[in-house]
Amino acid sequence: MSDSKRASASRVEIAQIMQPNDANFLGKVFGGAVLAMIDLCAYAASSKHSGRVCVTASFDRVDFHEPINVGELVTMIGQVSFVGRTSLEVTIEIYAQNLLTSDKRHTNTAQVTMVALDANGKPVPVPQLIPETREEKLRYLQGKLRRELRSLQRAEYETQAAVFASASEEELDRLLTTPTLLTK
Ligand SMILES: CC(C)(COP(=O)(O)OP(=O)(O)OC[C@H]1O[C@@H](n2cnc3c(N)ncnc32)[C@H](O)[C@@H]1OP(=O)(O)O)[C@@H](O)C(=O)NCCC(=O)NCCS
Repeated sequence: MSDSKRASASRVEIAQIMQPNDANFLGKVFGGAVLAMIDLCAYAASSKHSGRVCVTASFDRVDFHEPINVGELVTMIGQVSFVGRTSLEVTIEIYAQNLLTSDKRHTNTAQVTMVALDANGKPVPVPQLIPETREEKLRYLQGKLRRELRSLQRAEYETQAAVFASASEEELDRLLTTPTLLTK
């Protein structure tokens, strides 16, 4: 069994001023520029916890509630929230600050699952996580719940997708007009 490490020891903070080349066609910051920064922050926190090179396995849902402007300072605070055997979930809080007024707002929270790799590029066990504060304990439980729900949802999706794939044309046409595909 690998050593255990405190969740707080994985905390990282990165900051970057959004530049004109980060802009979309409306002059606001392009979603991909924010996602790239989230990915870097997840890499830093997961590698800090595991002491390994980590790769991105999946992004959990990321909602963009409000735009970030070119010229604003984006700060991301990442910390490992949950670990499996070789995977680590990193929670990232994202803030944007107008440098002229100092107004700072929380724009998103993102969760990214990273996997630690050994020198041969194979998944390798990571240290257990010690959540200490109430917030860290909540995040750990939420991360575990997200993982269990993802696996349940994937299994249900694959079952239903197989039903679609084997359906006749008439059955597909009937399904196209069905208000909901969920049966429970
Ligand atoms: C992520 C990767 C290393 C997993 O390899 P694998 O052979 O499927 O490994 P395993 O099936 O043994 O899974 C290893 C762990 O990853 C987790 N995992 C694998 N795919 C996952 C996914 N899509 N989402 C979340 N977790 C995932 C597994 O649950 C497992 O976690 P655990 O050890 O904590 O239980 C492999 O798919 C990979 O290299 N992907 C490309 C990564 C990459 O290049 N990212 C950047 C994209 S540009």
